[in-house]
Amino acid sequence: MNKLLKLSLAVLLLASVIAWFQPNVLHNNTKYLHDVAAKFPALVSFFKWFHGSKGSTTATDHSDHAQLKEPTSAPVEPTRVFTKEELANYKGENGGDIYLAIMGRVFDVTRGRDFYGPGGGYAFFSGVDGSRAFVTGDFKPEGLIDDITGLGSQDYIGLRDWLDFYTKDYEYIGKLQGLFFDADGKTTEYYHDAQQWIKEASSHKEDEDLFKEKFPMCNIEYKPEEGSRVWCSTKSGGIKRDWVGFPRSLYSADSKNIRCACAQEADLNDSLLKEYPNCPKDATSCMLPK
Ligand code: HEM
Repeated sequence: MNKLLKLSLAVLLLASVIAWFQPNVLHNNTKYLHDVAAKFPALVSFFKWFHGSKGSTTATDHSDHAQLKEPTSAPVEPTRVFTKEELANYKGENGGDIYLAIMGRVFDVTRGRDFYGPGGGYAFFSGVDGSRAFVTGDFKPEGLIDDITGLGSQDYIGLRDWLDFYTKDYEYIGKLQGLFFDADGKTTEYYHDAQQWIKEASSHKEDEDLFKEKFPMCNIEYKPEEGSRVWCSTKSGGIKRDWVGFPRSLYSADSKNIRCACAQEADLNDSLLKEYPNCPKDATSCMLPK
């Protein structure tokens, strides 16, 4: 979706929430949008959607910035090691440089002064490693921390994408002594744990994507007089393909969730699939029981 449309939607939705809860902070300004989001965690998923693949939803683009896939080349390793106190000096005050860290890597974001400089909408990221807040949306001081333990799989993907973003758009200038690197800039055990969480999350996402391609969602329509109809076509559930498939109920492994999936003939015996009652096996469209 194009950025202008997204931003308009974002502003509209958030403005309604702000107007409802806090009419006094109704400013068309991302700083306030973020302040409000920090107060209402339910909005964070919306925030994540806005930033596409850097968040933890399944959206994929952040048009201007980058297609945030795997980094194409290994970044050149800087040798400078910052302490937290040193890093805190780089918040862009009095026209000075602005640095931020994500997962222990320090980036020079001075050219993003409008975002990160004093008074900028993202100034809270400057001079600190606020890795966790990139995916939780908790921009309060206690949320702006480098500890990324215990996040969800989608959050680790989001963090990976933010790191790719900074690596591509800004200069990687040093390492931060702390959780991820020691005083000599050597990787810590925590660094390797984090790598592993991200790796597992990435492979989990790959599996999920493959599963979605194997069993795409059906098309669904509802008419009050007829009820719901599900059907398959060469494009459903956002998956374009060269086969149509047959609508089936798809049960999650724990049987807690059910959705309609289009399945190819070769997969029809999969134990997670069930036929719809009163719908022929080879029909590509089924009416659901009312
Ligand atoms: C977890 C939530 C969010 C985080 C962590 C986040 C973080 C960021 C960061 C770090 C930047 C600066 C990127 C750069 O250096 O170029 C940025 C830019 C921006 N953000 Fe957010 N943001 C969030 C949610 C939102 C939401 C909900 C909106 C919508 C109102 C928004 C609007 C913008 C805009 C308009 C820009 C600048 C335009 C651009 O993307 O190039 N952000 N965001």
